[in-house]
Amino acid sequence: MKSIVGINKLSFKYDKADILKHISLDVEQGSFLSILGPNGSGKTTLLKNVCNLLKPHNGSILIDEKDIEKIKYKELAQIIAVVHQGTDVQFDFSVFDVVMMGRFPYLKRFQSEGKEDVEIVENAMKSTSIWELREKSINEISGGERQRVLIARALTQQPKVLLLDEPISHLDIKYQIEILDLCKRLNKEQNITVITTLHDINMASRYSDYILLLEEGRIREMDTPEKVLTEKNIEDVYGIKVDLIKRNDNERPIIIPKNM
Ligand SMILES: Nc1ncnc2c1ncn2[C@@H]1O[C@H](COP(=O)(O)OP(=O)(O)OP(=O)(O)O)[C@@H](O)[C@H]1O
Ligand SMILES: [Mg+2]
Repeated sequence: MKSIVGINKLSFKYDKADILKHISLDVEQGSFLSILGPNGSGKTTLLKNVCNLLKPHNGSILIDEKDIEKIKYKELAQIIAVVHQGTDVQFDFSVFDVVMMGRFPYLKRFQSEGKEDVEIVENAMKSTSIWELREKSINEISGGERQRVLIARALTQQPKVLLLDEPISHLDIKYQIEILDLCKRLNKEQNITVITTLHDINMASRYSDYILLLEEGRIREMDTPEKVLTEKNIEDVYGIKVDLIKRNDNERPIIIPKNM
């Protein structure tokens, strides 16, 4: 197994109290990892540490076997692309221009985009099925389409790792499946490692190779969905009682909250 993201004894605080506590883990290259945990458990904070937006006060992070501190900003952006929670695009850019922004890490100072960049953008837009939207304004498309635009932008960075923070919140069930299917396809066909936070435990179960369950900034467990999604883990971490159901042996477990 090759570790594409390695975290070693990471602790992080915004001010006084530690928000992330002694986090150590390895993310296998080419795997699909979901990060679960209650509101405020540190999921977004962990993702921001992994993309160097926040710096741990203890511990270290290796990206593609290199210390994150030693990787320059543009070089890191060629390895890791991020779709942040509720990303806002302020101006009335066209969908095409928003996706092209992902090429920034590959352009030299004052250099403008060339033929190759246009081709990469076109491919990313076609693989996320938004090519037809290219002339529309980013502010005139639906939430699901917008999420696909942001993923397309991330893809033009030609990343090894795609980090996503709550990519399916605010989407209806059809778009939720569409976005996660897309992530899974990129994972399988292009060997892009996917690391995503999710609130939907059943979606995480369905799509992930591994689940990281966070509890108050600590790792409760990181393993396959079958091992992490136990009644006890869910009750201890979320404080609700659930039934675990499997429709057949090949299917991932799904949870249903018990009646009170
Ligand atoms: N910029 C900040 N300054 C100070 N504290 C913060 C900041 N951002 C988050 N926190 C605190 O850090 C903790 C973890 O927040 P984080 O956003 O990582 O949680 P999360 O698991 O992503 O939650 P959610 O599911 O609501 O998105 C919370 O207690 C939060 O209040
Ligand atoms: Mg969050």
